[in-house]
Amino acid sequence: MEVIEAVGELRSRIKEFKRQGKTIGFVPTMGFLHEGHISLMKKAREETDIVIVSIFVNPTQFGPNEDFESYPKDMVRDQRLTESVGVDFLFTPTVTEMYPDGYSTFVEVAGDLTRQLCGRTRPGHFRGVTTIVAKLFHMTTPDYAYFGKKDAQQVVVIEKMVRDLNMDIVIVPCSIVREEDGLAMSSRNSYLTEADRKKAQVLSQSLFETKAKIASGERDITTIKQFIVSRIKQIEGALIDYVEIVHSKTLENMNQIKGNILIALAVKFGKTRLIDNIDMVV
Ligand code: PAF
Repeated sequence: MEVIEAVGELRSRIKEFKRQGKTIGFVPTMGFLHEGHISLMKKAREETDIVIVSIFVNPTQFGPNEDFESYPKDMVRDQRLTESVGVDFLFTPTVTEMYPDGYSTFVEVAGDLTRQLCGRTRPGHFRGVTTIVAKLFHMTTPDYAYFGKKDAQQVVVIEKMVRDLNMDIVIVPCSIVREEDGLAMSSRNSYLTEADRKKAQVLSQSLFETKAKIASGERDITTIKQFIVSRIKQIEGALIDYVEIVHSKTLENMNQIKGNILIALAVKFGKTRLIDNIDMVV
């Protein structure tokens, strides 16, 4: 595995492989890798000739009072993990490489897609995400790019950007990977105290219980939302940001449980904001 910091070097290495007709699989990350990331890399390894992983904690997708400064990092461990999965290139650019002095270009998917759900409490977040992902796509020129479905809204927003900007890239959404107790894997889980880590089980539990209710015939959106909200509110200190049921492909609000649905939630435990979701076809 080659570790590369400079865009120029990355580009010239990739060009060689493109000339040979090799397919490129790309997994963008912010590092502090976990099994969720590993599953994306393994899928990329299976499906493409050359696998590129990026690690870059992107300042433009963090709000002023968010955790950019404290975002967890462990580059030594991350390098070991990426190497063990058979990644070909690990791209680890610096902030000045990605946003040099005077940088002023942004990519934004406008409208409700980025304003609702996480966009409501994190204004500007998706603008930062699409800007960095567009830049990384230009640098890595992937045929396939792999994203985890825990960030369901991010996947839909990136798919829209790719369609709108005619990018010749297949977005591959990958299943959520969970801890044994159901908690969705996230680098931010490392912020949780032991007590909050236990409390956070309520997220996946309430989603799985909801799935069972829908499977046994419950179709009333208000009843379902109320069930999840009251289940979470039973946990002391859990602060709900949102619980929403939307169309899983368009993120439009639904007025009945029918078709492709996404049940998504964001909840804070102390200073740690966690997201989770399930999608179903009903
Ligand atoms: O999902 C993430 O880790 C980030 O939002 C991404 C896609 C790497 C962009 O910084």
